[in-house]
Amino acid sequence: MLCKKVELCNFRNAENEVIEFDNGINVLHGENAQGKTNLLEAIYYVSLGKSFRTTHDTEIIRFGEEYASVSLDYESAGREQNITMRMSSNTKQRKVVTHNGVKITKLSELVGSFRAVLFSPDHLQMIKDGPSLRRNYMDVAISQIRPMYLHSLQKYNKILLNRNKLIKNAEEDRATFDATIDFWSAQLAHEAAIISKARAEYVARSGEIIADFYKRMCARGEIDETPEFIYAGSAKQDAELYFDIETTEKNFLRLLTDFHEREIAAGATLYGTHKDDILINLNGKNTRLYSSQGQQRSLALAMKLAEGEICKMDCGEYPVFLFDDVFSELDSGRRKNLLREITDRQVIITSCENDMDLSVPYRRIEVSKGKYKS
Ligand SMILES: Nc1ncnc2c1ncn2[C@@H]1O[C@H](COP(=O)(O)OP(=O)(O)O)[C@@H](O)[C@H]1O
Ligand SMILES: [Mg+2]
Repeated sequence: MLCKKVELCNFRNAENEVIEFDNGINVLHGENAQGKTNLLEAIYYVSLGKSFRTTHDTEIIRFGEEYASVSLDYESAGREQNITMRMSSNTKQRKVVTHNGVKITKLSELVGSFRAVLFSPDHLQMIKDGPSLRRNYMDVAISQIRPMYLHSLQKYNKILLNRNKLIKNAEEDRATFDATIDFWSAQLAHEAAIISKARAEYVARSGEIIADFYKRMCARGEIDETPEFIYAGSAKQDAELYFDIETTEKNFLRLLTDFHEREIAAGATLYGTHKDDILINLNGKNTRLYSSQGQQRSLALAMKLAEGEICKMDCGEYPVFLFDDVFSELDSGRRKNLLREITDRQVIITSCENDMDLSVPYRRIEVSKGKYKS
């Protein structure tokens, strides 16, 4: 996968910009608040169809303008392709997406076309914080290699919304609740089982790959540490049962049937994949409770590198790696280790360091007030 050229129009602080990239390492260099992360956001936007910084599309439209667009020329499997997205402040037609000139109406038809892996300082929270970032890690990674997964997720979220509404209204309208809850529970259990299986498989596959990267990323003193990744599903069953969709569906359905009063008291659906987690241990100890900053950084990086590796295994080529402010936070040992892992891949990194020593040639793109010059 190669990102060849990006054209921005009114995207954040960029007015009309055309940026070309090398096949190897590209460094976006500039002071703070100039537009480095904005460009990574634009590229990742094309990959996932949404921003990693905001859920409000209109925020990315340049102040005072009515629309923003990003057009990306890329190469995949030797074929030149293009994705263009135009976002408008007009509520009637918010977003228009085309892939090679053809209009796309469903996001699940687009995701997986241009594949990218993003790593930003916020990803450290994948290790330390609550489970939502770990679910997001699985969702983004699996969606890019299995578009049907995204379809299930979207279905699941819609069903969950409806089921929650029903629960919230149950005290006022018990009759409707009693008449329809089973219908929503059955649908939710069905999608939950599909999602659980995909997540369980992904975590099982990635565990060893992450552990390998972790060892190679680490400083010398930490080399004896072995990380372990365990899918913590929410069907209250043994881990290996998640590979069996029918059993999982049955168990979810039971949980969604047996605890109605508790759900009504809580005002929400208490069981389902929206409660999933990944348990991450280092030498048998939970990293959420017992890891240092350095360990968290290496682990988070290893998870992202593994995401790229699995993408390569399944899709035949590496995704584009986007590293936001990552190198500046690494000590020189880890920096060298990381560089060694990403040779022969296209990488776009941001940095405010003046003379970043990467010991390898790279294309430097100067970023200043929303303008990009190489
Ligand atoms: N919708 C917008 N319109 C115009 N400027 C914006 C918009 N959103 C963000 N900005 C500007 O973009 C800049 C931040 O860019 P960013 O890429 O995050 O900086 P950095 O180079 O530090 O990564 C800030 O100056 C901010 O005011
Ligand atoms: Mg930034």
